[in-house]
Amino acid sequence: MGLEKLLKDVLPKGDHFEALHLRNVPIETHPLITAKHDTNEPAPLTIKTQHLFVLFYQGKVIYGLEIYVYLTLKHGSSSLFDAERTIFISKADTTGYADCKLSYKNVTKAIIQYILSLDPNAYLQNVLPKERDYSKIDPSLITKKTSAAKALRIISNRLNQDSQPLRKPLDEQLSHSYQCSHNVKTKLCLFTRPAAEYLFAASSKNPRKHVVDGERLLKWWIDILDEILLETFRENTEAKMRIPGEDPINVKRYLRSTKYGHWEAGDVFGNNGKDLAAFRLPLFPDDPKTRFLRKLVEEDRIYKTDLSTFWTELQERQEFKLSVIVSVIGIYGHVAEIPCNLPSTRDQIEASSRRQFNSIKNYITGEEYDVISGATEAYVNVRDFLKIKLNRKLLQIIGDCQTGRKSKSAERQEVVTTLQVRKRPKKI
Ligand SMILES: CC(C)(COP(=O)(O)OP(=O)(O)OC[C@H]1O[C@@H](n2cnc3c(N)ncnc32)[C@H](O)[C@@H]1OP(=O)(O)O)[C@@H](O)C(=O)NCCC(=O)NCCS
Repeated sequence: MGLEKLLKDVLPKGDHFEALHLRNVPIETHPLITAKHDTNEPAPLTIKTQHLFVLFYQGKVIYGLEIYVYLTLKHGSSSLFDAERTIFISKADTTGYADCKLSYKNVTKAIIQYILSLDPNAYLQNVLPKERDYSKIDPSLITKKTSAAKALRIISNRLNQDSQPLRKPLDEQLSHSYQCSHNVKTKLCLFTRPAAEYLFAASSKNPRKHVVDGERLLKWWIDILDEILLETFRENTEAKMRIPGEDPINVKRYLRSTKYGHWEAGDVFGNNGKDLAAFRLPLFPDDPKTRFLRKLVEEDRIYKTDLSTFWTELQERQEFKLSVIVSVIGIYGHVAEIPCNLPSTRDQIEASSRRQFNSIKNYITGEEYDVISGATEAYVNVRDFLKIKLNRKLLQIIGDCQTGRKSKSAERQEVVTTLQVRKRPKKI
């Protein structure tokens, strides 16, 4: 199912929304899990792709979700690679400027289901390699390895030629493509940690933003993933939750209300507490686990810290405020329907370079959301950039969900006033 339909089904009936689904260039990266030194096996090929989803309502940014998808490729018996897919849900955030019935829980669930439905091969075309082999590219192209004298000769040759022969673009010559079997096993990982804001700076100053505490956030995610397990994964899928420093009995208390029957206390990274954390835990961007692993390297304890010690000490780290509940949630299994959905050009905007991805993302994350004008300016900037530079439009969605709920703040707002744009004071 396309993104538009999935979102339509969870957005309030008759309300008009716009969405941005921006996908970064797939890049070859370091293996997600560090290999032991004594292993002779070649490191698996790992390809990382970043997604950014943003929802807009009445010309304002209201919600964002950042997700990374990793494909780990190993040679199988045929010419196809065997692949494992790791989906890391990195950041979810809201601005508080939606004045309509809206369940972010359902929106988040719909986006994750969309990602789960995507054909892994969609990430394997035009992959940027870790190192570029400039010796293999067309010598009539200028790259950063071309000397100044040679570049001048190339330009002069081009000027002397009446018609240019068609060349493969440089990016295509420097990128790689692969193919993998559709039958990928999927690991879905996230770290639940409440914060006032993740993507939208100063948005917590908006009194209408609903910021939840650690316990509520954990339940919020468990509800989402529980439904995804029932609707999208096969029956025997592993589903685990760990609250660092917390007894498994206490963890199970949070899992009592789940409908999927196989939730357990623990994690999907390793069952043996004596294993070294360095060789079990994946290295995700901007993730507290990764930061702690790096700290262990600095403290020269990386080859001494086992998983049990890692989890106990993680909770004591300064970045966790005392008494705030954080958790690590993981799902590991096969999705029930083979993922073969190829993203349509309507559903997805593929950035042509990492620089382009970051500049579009900066329009969203570079604003200050304490006043509504931040949310409107971000919308206008993205909309105009897409139109002028890429000749593209945001995805237009008219909600079709009858049972949408009205947020309490929206109800209050409706009674008091209609929205007014407050201009931020100009910085002198
Ligand atoms: C996490 C976050 C996105 C959840 O947003 P949300 O508005 O609570 O999400 P939902 O729309 O799904 O609502 C969840 C519940 O809160 C209730 N709710 C929403 N707005 C409310 C409000 N203003 N007042 C009271 N209850 C409210 C809903 O009714 C719903 O209740 P239910 O579970 O009984 O149906 C939001 O708290 C947020 O942006 N937090 C800051 C960033 C953050 O911590 N991100 C987590 C990254 S791991």
